[in-house]
Amino acid sequence: MDLNEKRVIVTGGASGIGMVLVDQLVDEGAIVGVLDIDQKALLRLGGRYSSLYCRACDVSQPDSVETAVDDFFKEFGRIDVLVNNAGIVHSALLVALGPRGIVSHDIEMWDKIISTNLSSVFYVTTQVVRRMVSQRTKGVIVNVSSISAVGNIGQSAYSAAKAGVVALTVTWAKELGTLGIRVAGIAPGFTKTDTTIGSMSETILSNWIRDTPLRRMAKPKEIADGIVFILKSDFFNGRVLEIDGGLRI
Ligand SMILES: NC(=O)c1ccc[n+]([C@@H]2O[C@H](COP(=O)([O-])OP(=O)(O)OC[C@H]3O[C@@H](n4cnc5c(N)ncnc54)[C@H](O)[C@@H]3O)[C@@H](O)[C@H]2O)c1
Repeated sequence: MDLNEKRVIVTGGASGIGMVLVDQLVDEGAIVGVLDIDQKALLRLGGRYSSLYCRACDVSQPDSVETAVDDFFKEFGRIDVLVNNAGIVHSALLVALGPRGIVSHDIEMWDKIISTNLSSVFYVTTQVVRRMVSQRTKGVIVNVSSISAVGNIGQSAYSAAKAGVVALTVTWAKELGTLGIRVAGIAPGFTKTDTTIGSMSETILSNWIRDTPLRRMAKPKEIADGIVFILKSDFFNGRVLEIDGGLRI
């Protein structure tokens, strides 16, 4: 796909990997809409590009998603690409023995992680694909999973959500391929964003770096490059591209 003039929605594009991706898409000439819950970060991003469509939206809320996607569609007349990138991390063991006895994984956090990282992908994609199909658009959907999808200690909810994202990717690639819509995923390893650095101790972080053959974290641009590669590669479909510095080999 040539990205010039393509109408692209990026969820969670106001910071981290999504923000770097937005820079690259704008450079390629795409018309980009960013749906993000963080209004301050959206304002900062909107200040950088006057052409950007920045929209406050909580992707875990189906009504909020429907209105935001519909407004983008009415404004730009088409949607060619969706990147489901919004996500939050939560680390907690299923059951841990703490100083005050046994503590188990919080159910509220389970629900929040599943709705933000998995249900959101279903909500946004449904709204986007029904518009692609109505206009016979040969579009592309990229879902951001994680290497945690294979199961990661202390990340029950996050790992389950990211594994669900892989399952949706394969299911939709099979369902939508005959309509000319490609669906693929990307599974980053540890990537140097504020969220990742802030969500784990230095010891855990340096252990992950030690276990990565390249002995470092990914730069957000290296993950965004992978997403752009998928968008431009017209025969890449139903697969999840792992960019992890070799951590999982
Ligand atoms: N950074 C990593 O190490 C890493 C590794 C594997 C996968 N990932 C995945 O990559 C994606 C981006 O991660 P990142 O590190 O850039 O994170 P980030 O926190 O820098 O960016 C995530 C963005 O999503 C937005 N967001 C969060 N909840 C939202 C909601 N309910 N509605 C709308 N927007 C919401 C945030 O405001 C933020 O702008 C996530 O899906 C994450 O799970 C990241």
